Amino acid sequence: MGSLNPLPGGGRSPDGAPCGLPARRPGWTLPQPYFTDTGIYRLDIERIWKQGWLFAGHACEIPQTGDYFLVEFDTESVIVIRGAQGAIHALHNVCRHRGSVICTEREGHATRLVCPYHQWSYDLDGRLVAWRGMQSDLDKADFPLNRVAAREVAGLIFICLAGSPPSFDAAAACLGPVARPQGLDRARVARAVDYVVHANWKVVWENNRECYHCNVNHPQYTQANFDHYNADDTPPRVREVMAAVVSRSEARWASAGLAPTRTDPGMTPFPDAARGIWFSANRTPLVDGWVSESMDGRQVAPLMGDYPDADVGTLRVRTLPNFWNHSSCDHAVSTRLLPLGPEATAVRVWWLVAADAVEGRDYDPATLMPFWQLTSEQDWLICERQQKGIRSSAYQPGPYSTFKEYNVEAFVAWYLTCLGAGAEAPPAMAAAPDDDSPVPLQSAGPR
Ligand code: FES
Ligand SMILES: [Fe+2]
Repeated sequence: MGSLNPLPGGGRSPDGAPCGLPARRPGWTLPQPYFTDTGIYRLDIERIWKQGWLFAGHACEIPQTGDYFLVEFDTESVIVIRGAQGAIHALHNVCRHRGSVICTEREGHATRLVCPYHQWSYDLDGRLVAWRGMQSDLDKADFPLNRVAAREVAGLIFICLAGSPPSFDAAAACLGPVARPQGLDRARVARAVDYVVHANWKVVWENNRECYHCNVNHPQYTQANFDHYNADDTPPRVREVMAAVVSRSEARWASAGLAPTRTDPGMTPFPDAARGIWFSANRTPLVDGWVSESMDGRQVAPLMGDYPDADVGTLRVRTLPNFWNHSSCDHAVSTRLLPLGPEATAVRVWWLVAADAVEGRDYDPATLMPFWQLTSEQDWLICERQQKGIRSSAYQPGPYSTFKEYNVEAFVAWYLTCLGAGAEAPPAMAAAPDDDSPVPLQSAGPR
């Protein structure tokens, strides 16, 4: 594909698209180049992926001092490592001598970070501590590994490659109270599956932001959830059932100290570029008779975290540009996106259970995994079909359903806001909601 080479730092055209980029009609899908063009992909990397907070992985993946994993996308490689006193550090995986990468395994354990080229050795916080053969008029203190901002909330690790990262405080204040009872910081990874989805990362997000496709494409998911219903197609009978489930759940959850939910059908509005909302978390009920997003709705692993019993609905967390989590009383499923190019996205899906759960005794991957594995893979398939169609000369933008795709429109508005923000941190990602903002910090609703 060719490149449009849009000029960076430009303003915004009247249609909302950044100047120099193809115009979008509001309420309609983006023009083809946003999904295929290498120049726009570069802007995505520079203005979104290198400016915002990215989900890296789980704190429970690096429980011991010296445990690490890498996060790699585009030209970047970042070491996320557990240092002394439990601190989590994120360090560029680039030696300060002649630039070799230092860690070559995707995950591992180190007492020191030793460059494989000439063995410059760094402490777990990135300080250079040994450099055999170097002259004495240089000072080791001048050559630490370059740091990347890192924050942990409720067992979830986020990193930001920006020189001046946007504030994470509003996200931590939103996600922490809702997610903490899940006990993701006291969990273990039961399984992780890696995918390469041959679709632009925005195609994957747009799919995540609507359940218009659910009835036909997700026969398992729609058995467990209400969010495939929308304002235009929720029968009175279903509204009554939802209202009863919600009011019962709210009362139970409030007494257990869990955040309540909302009563409207459809997906909770997210994101909201105008209010700087790139994060949200909520708890929502499953249908009657289901306590877990498993194939038959039954519990498939021991209770996680602080849950008093299995009736806790489902916890939903999502952060742009690369993370969502669906958690039941007994297991949690995290999804992380990383861009591989204009038409490919690396996706990792983790299944987590309580830290002391034992495979074979307390859970079986054969019952733990299929619900979200099937649903995820159904999504990847329809994303790839869409990407294939978008590449065609016949593709032209189409209209969104205002009933069912309002969150896709919200995502595209957020995306264009970030893209048009120039070299500075996108305002949508830098801003925090006002304290008295009507925006729900624990935004409620399905998905
Ligand atoms: S490049 Fe790392 S020690 Fe030389
Ligand atoms: Fe889906």
